[in-house]
Amino acid sequence: MIPNLNIYQTVEADQVSIWFKAAPVTKFPANGGACVKYKDKQIAVFNHSREDAWYACQNLCPHKMEMVLSRGLIGEEGGEPKVACPLHKNSFSLKTGKHLNGDLSPITTYPIKIEDGFVYIGFSE
Ligand code: FES
Repeated sequence: MIPNLNIYQTVEADQVSIWFKAAPVTKFPANGGACVKYKDKQIAVFNHSREDAWYACQNLCPHKMEMVLSRGLIGEEGGEPKVACPLHKNSFSLKTGKHLNGDLSPITTYPIKIEDGFVYIGFSE
């Protein structure tokens, strides 16, 4: 089944209407990612501990419509944080969602914050 892409829309920090309490920070590996579910969405959350930064984006890779981005490798390219899909290495900016090594559709990125040891992801509803 091909997931409904319309569920993914770019969410800017000033559009957030709900901060979803995802999980304690200890549930996310250092310099790695994990998947959390919010309603019908799968969200990849990355603890970029080398940079002391957190990122959230859709878990769906737009290349082959696989829910795999949370298992991707994180790094940076020209100062831009990125995730590389574990299947065929397409890379996406974790800030803008832009496909960095091709012309696939951008992925949706979500605002994220840490409060009292918990990870919160921002959604607009
Ligand atoms: S499925 Fe992600 S790069 Fe191919």
